[in-house]
Amino acid sequence: MRLNQEEKEMLEGKYGKSTQKSMEILATLGEIFDAENMIDVHGVQIAGVSYDNLGEAGLEFLNEMAEDGKVKVLTTLNPAGMDRENWQALGIDEEFAKNQNRAIDTFAKMGIITTCSCTPYLIGNTPHYGQHIAWAESSAVCYSNSVIGARTNREGGPSALAAALIGKTPNYGYHLDKNRHGQVLVVVNIPVKGTDEFGVLGKFIGDKLVELGKKIPYITGIPSATVEELKSFCASVATYGGTALFHMDGITPECNNYPKPSEIVFEISHDDLDNARAELIDDDIEIDFVSIGCPHASIHEIANLSKLLEGKEVKKEFWITTARPTKRIADEAGYSKIIEDAGAKFAADTCCVVAPIKGRFKGIMVDSAKACYYGRAKNKFKVKIGSIEECVQEAIK
Ligand code: F3S
Repeated sequence: MRLNQEEKEMLEGKYGKSTQKSMEILATLGEIFDAENMIDVHGVQIAGVSYDNLGEAGLEFLNEMAEDGKVKVLTTLNPAGMDRENWQALGIDEEFAKNQNRAIDTFAKMGIITTCSCTPYLIGNTPHYGQHIAWAESSAVCYSNSVIGARTNREGGPSALAAALIGKTPNYGYHLDKNRHGQVLVVVNIPVKGTDEFGVLGKFIGDKLVELGKKIPYITGIPSATVEELKSFCASVATYGGTALFHMDGITPECNNYPKPSEIVFEISHDDLDNARAELIDDDIEIDFVSIGCPHASIHEIANLSKLLEGKEVKKEFWITTARPTKRIADEAGYSKIIEDAGAKFAADTCCVVAPIKGRFKGIMVDSAKACYYGRAKNKFKVKIGSIEECVQEAIK
């Protein structure tokens, strides 16, 4: 890989230890993926923030980088293992909270904004079309590439931190036009509506892509979709298909920049979606936990929840997971009071997947296909997907 003079000096240690380590990580990545050069990034999002994922080894690495490291570009964090202000009410133990705060304080020492969210694009870490970024959360990577038209690979924790500390990333993968072409034409022949249905669609397409050994679908037949529907779709197709970029006719800004795949590989019918939905509902589920906000709930979703919950009483543990700045808007607008008066709880900074709640509940109801996947795989819950309205009904019945 070609490095300019300054990058060579970074590698030689002229700018300090953390810069040198970061450059070593990124130069190695660049060599592995045949990058020709480094490019500037305009923002970074770091995953692997929960102390559950980091452990002491991860924290040691962070501390080393924080000795002399300061980020060069706007950088935010993925959800942590707890709500930083309300962790006791969510049943998080004190030891975990102490360790989680040690990790977040270390990120803060490096100049990272400690807003912990998987929807950085909703809270100001928002790239524009064509900008290069280095993001780590799979749903956000998919959203930024496909809905915004920014350019990022899916970074790991260390490579995202390294990109933040030097403001650069190796130029390979989805940063290059040649790797952004649609590979498979997908025709959606039916109307799709709601976050749950877009999640089910993402699961169906993701599963098919895995069968076909492809990554980038070109999807037609969806005339419009809301931000919330798209974030749910992105989370799902990234989870089930490993997809970091799709083209959606009329929605993806660059969908006409490349030739459309000519062969229709699959069409999607009502039956396909019904079958995919059935796979997200476990038999004999006993629901004792309801969670909305995977990916993190937007202010629109919270406004809607406040309408649905006004004057009601929640009978089950009910979390609304969101970014702290979104929660603050909800507080100011009066939505939080209505929601909390009904007995539901905000879980800002965290989510039902990264919080250390394995085995605490029997069955979870969600409107997110991604949360179904990890609810089963990570937390060993039985799962059921439904619309936001159905989730609220379940919580109050
Ligand atoms: Fe976000 Fe947690 Fe879902 S990180 S995408 S809310 S699993």
